[in-house]
Amino acid sequence: MPKITVLDQDTINQIAAGEVIDRPSSVVKELMENAIDAGATAVTVEIKDGGISFIRITDNGCGIEKEQIPTAFLRHSTSKIRSVEDLLTVSSLGFRGEALSSIASVSQVELITKTAEALTGSRYQIHGGKEILLEEIGAPDGTTFLVRNLFYNTPARKKFLKTAQTEGAYISSLIERMALSRPDVSIRFIQNNQSRIHTSGNHNLKDLIYMIYGREIAGNLLPVEAVKEAVKISGFLGKPLISRGNRTYENYFINGRYIKSNLINKAIEDGYHSYMMQHKYPFVVLNLEIEPEFLDVNVHPSKMELRFRNPEEIYDSVCRAVHDTLAGKELIRKVSLDAEPQKDSPQISAKENADTKKHTVQRAPEPFEVRRMIKDREPLWNQEKVRESAAYAKIPVKQPESKTEPSEPEAPKQLELFEEKLLTKEARDEYRFIGQLFDTYWLIQYRDEFLIIDQHAAHEKILYERMVRQLAEKKVLAQMVNPPIILTLNLREEEVLKSHKERFLALGFEIEPFGGREYAVYSVPSNLYGIAQTDILTELLDSLAEELEQESEQVILEKLASMSCKAAVKGGDSLSVKEAEALIDELLTLENPYACPHGRPTVISMSRRELEKKFKRIV
Ligand SMILES: Nc1ncnc2c1ncn2[C@@H]1O[C@H](COP(=O)(O)OP(=O)(O)O)[C@@H](O)[C@H]1O
Ligand SMILES: [Mg+2]
Repeated sequence: MPKITVLDQDTINQIAAGEVIDRPSSVVKELMENAIDAGATAVTVEIKDGGISFIRITDNGCGIEKEQIPTAFLRHSTSKIRSVEDLLTVSSLGFRGEALSSIASVSQVELITKTAEALTGSRYQIHGGKEILLEEIGAPDGTTFLVRNLFYNTPARKKFLKTAQTEGAYISSLIERMALSRPDVSIRFIQNNQSRIHTSGNHNLKDLIYMIYGREIAGNLLPVEAVKEAVKISGFLGKPLISRGNRTYENYFINGRYIKSNLINKAIEDGYHSYMMQHKYPFVVLNLEIEPEFLDVNVHPSKMELRFRNPEEIYDSVCRAVHDTLAGKELIRKVSLDAEPQKDSPQISAKENADTKKHTVQRAPEPFEVRRMIKDREPLWNQEKVRESAAYAKIPVKQPESKTEPSEPEAPKQLELFEEKLLTKEARDEYRFIGQLFDTYWLIQYRDEFLIIDQHAAHEKILYERMVRQLAEKKVLAQMVNPPIILTLNLREEEVLKSHKERFLALGFEIEPFGGREYAVYSVPSNLYGIAQTDILTELLDSLAEELEQESEQVILEKLASMSCKAAVKGGDSLSVKEAEALIDELLTLENPYACPHGRPTVISMSRRELEKKFKRIV
């Protein structure tokens, strides 16, 4: 690696500078970027207490020469650029030379490092920016950074930290993203002595996606490969059926750098446009390779934003690549009646397999000075409760006191379409069922009106109202599911589950650890007993993941609307006349039977007069 030197003032002035160390995850980000820039093929990150008291990052990269160590901790010292012109071609993740000095000024840092050429390694300590020690020590090639007691000397900043659990969750998602951005680097993450992530570095992106997001996502991917003029795009697109409730699953990397860009988000979403329901966001992992001279990375100190020299072209290329990949693909969900949870790995083609074998698996570097016991993962919570199977099937669940009232859906517009109320109990006796159309719509004659009821919307509405009522009366019923539903959760979702387990229980969800990343769902709210529970749960967890900080009662309530929709009879299920009549009977008991919780109409009508006009019987 080139020598580390302090940048000249002119260059410093032109670099987007600013404090970037605001929480443990930013320390981890900077140090992992340094490890990757040092050419490491294996990086181990270990944290305790959400990273607040302890972060250790070990890499097998190029190491730092003893004489260079103090320089590395000076402000604006870097080996990656010399002048501002170098920014035009910079391909390393770091370039500002500020991370080490910033970290060392607000924590207690210990560094152990050795280059391949040196006979011995060095140990360096710096506390609150003050050098404590620099000595020779036996060490393996590579670098270990130990960062203890972040913000110990700046209590005001320490106050802004969240709980260890939340800070730990930020680090988890960061590491998941970094791992996704570098399938060629073996990344290991150990949290409170438990191994949480360990990627193989075998260059196979699909393996990584499987490991981080689980079987359901990995089994529903479409590979993308597109070489456009401005950009080379590769990676995977999630099929629309694994869409999510928020943008956190839109992963993209530009030249290996995780960034945020409204332009790229929009390009991806527009590419999915006709394949995605409104307010749904896709799962993607995309790597964009763009010539450095078409990028300006010197926009924001956190290096999370960048500017494109040719934004239209980039937008167009990404949008098109996404759209073309989706176009013409078989995207219809295949529902299997066999509810047995499968534990097989995603389908990996022979070619991908062969590609994988070409690369040897990297061994993660171990912090050499300690032998750690990695405990087996502890269960999320105690399983003391004894389940009596008979009593278990329908248990009223105690509701937590909630201040928030379930919100009423907005008054639907199509109400105005009806001059006379057609959907009333009084009118019910005069309904004549004609039959079902396309296994979805019920055709009904009522006096001079022809009514068409969408069974899905109607069912949705009924379930929603039932759920709202039960919540208000605080008696949700849990229904046992047998066999349990197995969910594979990512780290963030695990955190959410942990912090909201009481609420989930109150709603009727009983979820227990099932080994590894898997969780078994033993009961669900009885209203949802039916179909698609996996979807509902992951969706709930997704939306809660965004609100980790806040009181989430409202989120849960809002989610109920969409949950009941998921459980609703889908258009396409053929119902018997009896079932349909029961459905309509219940619909008629509702105050507003005209629209589903999302505002779609449950019923439309056509008058005899309109029909006669169409057939030119009258003019
Ligand atoms: N893990 C590492 N392995 C080898 N060298 C490192 C490592 N971490 C930091 N360095 C050296 O220390 C310098 C300063 O690091 P940093 O303050 O993060 O600035 P930057 O990454 O912007 O250059 C780097 O340029 C690099 O030469
Ligand atoms: Mg750096």
